[in-house]
Amino acid sequence: MTIDTETKIYGVLGHPVGHSLSPTMHNAAFKQLGINAVYLAFDVEDIAAAITSLRVLAVKGASVTIPHKQEVMKHLDVIDPIADKIGAVNTIVARNGKLWGHNTDCNGAIEALLAQTPLDGRRAVVLGAGGAARAIAVGLQSHGCRVTIVNRTIERGWRLAEDLNAKFIPLADFNSSDCDILINTTSVGMSPNTGTMPIPARLFAKSMVVMDVIYNPLETKFLQTAAAKGCRTIDGVAMFVNQGALQFELWTEIDAPRDLMRKIVLQKLSAQ
Ligand code: ATR
Repeated sequence: MTIDTETKIYGVLGHPVGHSLSPTMHNAAFKQLGINAVYLAFDVEDIAAAITSLRVLAVKGASVTIPHKQEVMKHLDVIDPIADKIGAVNTIVARNGKLWGHNTDCNGAIEALLAQTPLDGRRAVVLGAGGAARAIAVGLQSHGCRVTIVNRTIERGWRLAEDLNAKFIPLADFNSSDCDILINTTSVGMSPNTGTMPIPARLFAKSMVVMDVIYNPLETKFLQTAAAKGCRTIDGVAMFVNQGALQFELWTEIDAPRDLMRKIVLQKLSAQ
């Protein structure tokens, strides 16, 4: 790829960003489609200064990751209604001299689910009450799901559920009786603690569609157990690739090469 005076700059703003899969994924997509653009990793602690830099350097777009997804919002010019409802931005788009904030985590998860199951009228259980839980729960509700938040810490789970007008069950009391779709957004089972899962094996039922947002490892104990019970499963790379593909489409207005992006991410993960 030739970098010249026309090359457009994109990047991820986060801290840390050393293990981000986004540069490899987005640069492969730019290359495949012959787009003169580059995607870099910016390890930034001062998000206000980083946003000023985007403006000054005419950066075309950025991903935003931990710990800046909420804080970044007040430095942008326009917030998309879904991002506003979620209270977090993971994508910045420079459009007509303004910086827009979007959230593609939500629709990234929804796309991954819709590839496996209808959502309207289904009962969905979201395990966890952090940022990922909130983004996914908002998306599920907007697609007609009845959402239950299940969390270890009652106060935090209850607050999220109340905010979204969803049901809440403490993790210790969860018995999976009213559940068609089960989604893990907790960090339980993430490398290096790969032998753990947030609920016991007996709570999986064959009829459930089960998704994990963790992609390291790709096959978490949660997903392995679900698959062994006969559930349809969706791995964390599906959501990760979809949120990236939706970012790519917001930036370029060109269909993202999703298959290539998934292949590249899987290659990178297996090399780690
Ligand atoms: P993110 O914003 O990335 O979604 P987070 O804000 O760190 O993540 O939230 C992590 C979620 O994992 C929380 O719901 C947390 O539960 P608590 O609210 O009780 O802390 C959940 N979690 C983390 N470790 C857990 C564990 N060992 N058992 C059950 N839930 C756990």
